[in-house]
Amino acid sequence: MKEKKYSAIVTGVGMYVPDKVYDNAYMETIVDTTDEWITARTGIKERRILENGATSDLAANAALDLIKAHNINPDEIDLIIVATVTPDMFFPATACLVQNKIGANTAWGYDISAACSGFLFAFQTGCSFVESGQYKKVLVIGADKMSSITDYTDRNTCILFGDAGAAVLIEPSEDKSLGLQDYILRVDGAGEESLYMLGGGSLNPPTHDTVDKKMHYLFQDGKAVFKVAVKGMADVSYELMQKNGLTGDDVAYLVPHQANMRIITATAERMGLGMDKVMVNIDKYGNTTAATIPLCLVEYYRDSKLKKGDKIILSAFGAGYTWGSSLLVWGI
Ligand code: COA
Repeated sequence: MKEKKYSAIVTGVGMYVPDKVYDNAYMETIVDTTDEWITARTGIKERRILENGATSDLAANAALDLIKAHNINPDEIDLIIVATVTPDMFFPATACLVQNKIGANTAWGYDISAACSGFLFAFQTGCSFVESGQYKKVLVIGADKMSSITDYTDRNTCILFGDAGAAVLIEPSEDKSLGLQDYILRVDGAGEESLYMLGGGSLNPPTHDTVDKKMHYLFQDGKAVFKVAVKGMADVSYELMQKNGLTGDDVAYLVPHQANMRIITATAERMGLGMDKVMVNIDKYGNTTAATIPLCLVEYYRDSKLKKGDKIILSAFGAGYTWGSSLLVWGI
């Protein structure tokens, strides 16, 4: 990587999950499924649902949690990047709505759309501004209200997703041994055939017909995505380890996107990591798209399981296709 002026380190974390819970017993009442099938095939036991409000509320509440926990003055925030595929509206950007809700009076911001890899893409972008010396406080938020694009009559998808927001604050450090060390990010647009939401955009603007055809719900060919997700996440994580001369012993945690427990396990195996070194909370929240990785970081940090100096590998795969891994040394 190019020589950087500063290292970009995470100095604060925050999260928000709504109170409403759809557990597997509830899913059994709305579609033809069982707790046993869902648990065995995905690892998910329950997911959180936002009944009132939108993605900007998930994101802003996560940011406010961070601001309170780390005693941050919102006026010092330079930039807000929100990763989401469920923005409140096409425009304005969710980042603008968050800026207003948290009172970050001198910040600018924008959204990044990279589905389940959204947080990784946003995190890398945020770190660049800090590494160059341009900004001192960058807020990166992953937030999705997946319930707003989920068809609750489709058992193939509705059991997978939940709503959440989680945030990290990135600041510069002179200590180059901490913070973002390296990353590999990829896209492959051929993936548009297996995971998408067809309606509502410029390709299929909303009409009665698009609504009748349920084109405003996400569609996933689960089997096809499963295969490429396992390979994509495992390969890129392993490649990043090789590139940085790391073995499983050097890595404190894999922080995987929480889409399916079987994908997580396969990735850990390829990296030579025991499951004690893998962050998992898919059982509690399901797949919250851009929020999964920061949600894990917040929970493990607050449980004192994540310590300063820990080498962690963040890894995700999602619609696009988009995928990648980042090597981060925890800085607080
Ligand atoms: N309850 C019971 N049975 C279900 C079910 C449910 N909720 N959902 C699907 N099934 C059925 C299917 O209809 C199918 O039945 P059939 O064989 O009679 O047609 C059977 O279970 C097997 O379906 P399959 O799709 O092969 O299951 P799977 O083991 O691949 O698991 C997913 C399905 C969605 C959990 C899995 O494919 C997956 O996780 N895919 C990738 C998700 C992902 O990583 N996305 C990327 C980022 S979002």
